[in-house]
Amino acid sequence: MTSPWLHRYAVLWSFCTLFLVVAGGLVTSNDAGLSVPDWPLSYGSLMPPMEGNIFYEHGHRMVATTVGLLTIGMASWLARAEQRRWLRNLGWLALAAVIAQGVLGGMTVLFMLPKPVSIGHACLAQLFFSTTAAVALFTSRSWARGPRMVDDPGAPSLHWFALAASACIFLQLALGASARHKALGILPHVIGALVATGMVLWLTVRVLMRHADHHALRRSALAVLSITFLQVFLGIAAYMSRLATADAPQPMPVMVGFTVAHVATGALTLASSVILAIQIFRHVRRPLADLQPIGVAVPSA
Ligand code: HEM
Ligand code: HEM
Repeated sequence: MTSPWLHRYAVLWSFCTLFLVVAGGLVTSNDAGLSVPDWPLSYGSLMPPMEGNIFYEHGHRMVATTVGLLTIGMASWLARAEQRRWLRNLGWLALAAVIAQGVLGGMTVLFMLPKPVSIGHACLAQLFFSTTAAVALFTSRSWARGPRMVDDPGAPSLHWFALAASACIFLQLALGASARHKALGILPHVIGALVATGMVLWLTVRVLMRHADHHALRRSALAVLSITFLQVFLGIAAYMSRLATADAPQPMPVMVGFTVAHVATGALTLASSVILAIQIFRHVRRPLADLQPIGVAVPSA
């Protein structure tokens, strides 16, 4: 049985990571990425004067260090106390991801914000947050209670749908990061929003219509649906605030506020779709047609 303290620690870790995504978004939106020219130290010290944009850049590094330490704590705790080998391995994977993320962050500074590195840093941040949310689910009491299996006939299977929706949302985040770091225009991201939102609607409506009496599936589907709608609203608000303040001295707080909220809710959108996919794989029986290609023997009728 997983300790309730391990779960509380995972929830804290996940919250701190979301706060770190907000802190990172503030660096980009305030154009503060190069306000500290060196790395790993800041102006040759551990604590430079927190003036002007240094507040955002060095503040982001401080929050990142805290999350790095929390990740070392999580990987070590899982290694010592967790029975499930795959979950211990996930802890090590999270540690590798946070180290890679720190190195990418350092490279953005040392190489003057190269677009591919900034985009990679933005995308890995989103994946890392989803990993922390998944670990919080795997260590929860509801997970320990075991699955309540249901059937979901029909093709394509709910499992494939769930994976496709998470993949579409991830691609949509990558298009958002490419627009934000000026590698692409905004149009691919707006078209991507239609596809990603369509996938979310299709998946969640199917789950809600067929499995409304299944607590875990209903709750996860409602979370994805409501977070995605909020995200679309924030995207439109981020775009409109850019147009409305185009002639004003930049960055305008209203534009920064909507954009950073859009970046952080992007992390929540991906994480909630990953959680829904995990719940579908846990609670919905795999259709026979899904299992045959991976070599599972299926009795003939
Ligand atoms: C360890 C975990 C870290 C996470 C999860 C993280 C997350 C983020 C996020 C979400 C952004 C905003 C991306 C965007 O809005 O497109 C960002 C920006 C940034 N981060 Fe990090 N970061 C981490 C570590 C670091 C470290 C150690 C540095 C070291 C210097 C760093 C430097 C930067 C810089 C310079 C930017 C602005 C990039 C730009 O404007 O192009 N980050 N970070
Ligand atoms: C499911 C729908 C959507 C998702 C998941 C999503 C996600 C994101 C993410 C994560 C970013 C920042 C990427 C980063 O650098 O970390 C972003 C940027 C952006 N998104 Fe969206 N978005 C969605 C829909 C929309 C819509 C409908 C609009 C409306 C026009 C929009 C407008 C923008 C704008 C303007 C930016 C760039 C902000 C900048 O240049 O600083 N998004 N999106």
